[in-house]
Amino acid sequence: PAFTDYQAEAATISQGLVESNHAGYTGTGFVNYDNVTGSYVQFTVSVPAAGNYQLALRYANGTTVDRPMDVTVNGTPAAPGLTFPGTGAWPTWAEKTVTASLAAGTNTVRATATTVNGGPNLDRLRVSAPSDSQPPTA
Ligand code: GCU
Repeated sequence: PAFTDYQAEAATISQGLVESNHAGYTGTGFVNYDNVTGSYVQFTVSVPAAGNYQLALRYANGTTVDRPMDVTVNGTPAAPGLTFPGTGAWPTWAEKTVTASLAAGTNTVRATATTVNGGPNLDRLRVSAPSDSQPPTA
């Protein structure tokens, strides 16, 4: 497949709650990060081959204040201070995408809130292989 989805509500959650009171989520709900620094959602991601993959975090932020998070892969910073600006309303979802190097097999992708407001509401992680990691077709 071109991508694999990992639902936040099925991930490992530290200081957050699974909720479903704002429409537009995929799966069965989303994670409402506690409004504290250090709250996180951690996904276990499996890929067949090492390479650079696109990590798209689908989120909502119904405030006007950015909810930045540090994204790590296997404990190493992949996207420090990634911004999650306001989406206009809690039921309005957007995606932030970063490219990160994944190892063949199992990886941990963690998104940790870095301000006292906690993270945004997080719906899912979509992992896509960019073109540079596709096998040659000729
Ligand atoms: C509201 C909203 C929650 C959100 C929270 C927050 O309570 O309903 O979905 O997570 O604000 O500010 O984090």
